[in-house]
Amino acid sequence: MANLTELLHLVARWVHLIAGIMWIGNSMLFNWLDRNLVLPDDPKEGLIGEIWMVHSGGFYQVEKKHLAPGQMPKTLHWFKWQNGITWLSGISLLVLVYYMGGASLMTDPAVSRISPAGSVALGIGTIVGAWLAYDLVWRSPIGRRPQLAFALNVLSVLALSWVQFHWLSGRAAYMHVGVMLGTIMTGNVWFVIIPSQRELVAATESGRPQDPAIGYQAKQRSIHNNYLTFPLLFIMLSNHFPTTFGHALNWLVLLVLSLGSALIRHLMNIRFTYRQWLLPATATFFVTCVAALWFFAHPEGLHPRRHLPAGTQPVAWSDVEPIFQARCQRCHSRFPTDPAFRAPPNGIVLEEHEQVARLKDRIKLRVVSLRNMPLGNVTNITDAERARIGAWIDQGAPED
Ligand code: HEC
Repeated sequence: MANLTELLHLVARWVHLIAGIMWIGNSMLFNWLDRNLVLPDDPKEGLIGEIWMVHSGGFYQVEKKHLAPGQMPKTLHWFKWQNGITWLSGISLLVLVYYMGGASLMTDPAVSRISPAGSVALGIGTIVGAWLAYDLVWRSPIGRRPQLAFALNVLSVLALSWVQFHWLSGRAAYMHVGVMLGTIMTGNVWFVIIPSQRELVAATESGRPQDPAIGYQAKQRSIHNNYLTFPLLFIMLSNHFPTTFGHALNWLVLLVLSLGSALIRHLMNIRFTYRQWLLPATATFFVTCVAALWFFAHPEGLHPRRHLPAGTQPVAWSDVEPIFQARCQRCHSRFPTDPAFRAPPNGIVLEEHEQVARLKDRIKLRVVSLRNMPLGNVTNITDAERARIGAWIDQGAPED
């Protein structure tokens, strides 16, 4: 059973990555095309703009145009399954990695006492709630006042993220913010953008003008999606960086990197019309990098109580070995006894002095600074034990 889960996990992740590259890649290409279209000196009837490109051994001429009735081509390519498959495989991964196996990645006793089932319900509820709150605002009369609607969107996403950070482990909170954004983007594609394209096709076929309100709405949603891509991609990578979701101020790290990356996307968008874009883009990039560097250098955040006393007593391997046995080897041994792991997580075995000493920096980061290992503190490590491991590592992780 565990091996089957592992196989499903691999397939889902692989599909997710490939579909995601195709979806985001296409959406970036079309955005770029739209911004670089030019109108030739003697434009043909119905032409909106054209562009010339050279790629893979040939010249490409792409025209964007209105079609007269009866001009509908035999084959028309739609782009929706790249998004659909990205979302479906992403939800499968969410279930496989976070919701199954006792939801051990969902909870963290240092954050809240929520039960595994409660954490899953909260996760699903906030994802569905985020889409409903976002979509309702734009469909209601408030949608005619974009600034107000946008402010309400930001507020609802922040409120739901707050709920997630308040109850779920940092890692699960990050992923759920990401799935919220990805679900909003997917809802936009299936419930607004695709229907608008269907209406465009139907209008062209029957020779009537397309309802401009529908086209306008689709454009609006597609711009929203455009700004959400960079933050979303950061969140999807963040799980490889425990310093981000494990930071004492993990919500602030997420906020800064999301706003910074959305702003960089904005500056990339306006670079064709606003020639002085390079300076603000560089400044934004620089500020975001400095903030990120600061966070990475101070994983304990601003909370001094998270600094454990280093201790001046010499600590030997024989003092800390029992701690690794009792608190870590349930997962980090050649044959883990934790039901969720058939093999040591990340291949990390902490049985011999040499195995532990080699990883001392990463152990200090996870156990002493970030305190997100042992996972969900299932083995109930104490603060004194964390401090003892920290002191031993500070003394060079000696064998005796
Ligand atoms: C309930 C299972 C479990 C327990 C107990 C546990 N870990 Fe982990 N550990 C994991 C998992 C799963 C990962 C991989 C995911 C991650 O990095 O968060 C991991 C990753 C790590 C990493 C990061 C490895 C890398 O590739 O960077 C370190 C270091 C680590 N654990 C140390 C420890 C130490 C030290 C203890 C005991 C004090 C411990 N762990 C207890 C499950 C556990």
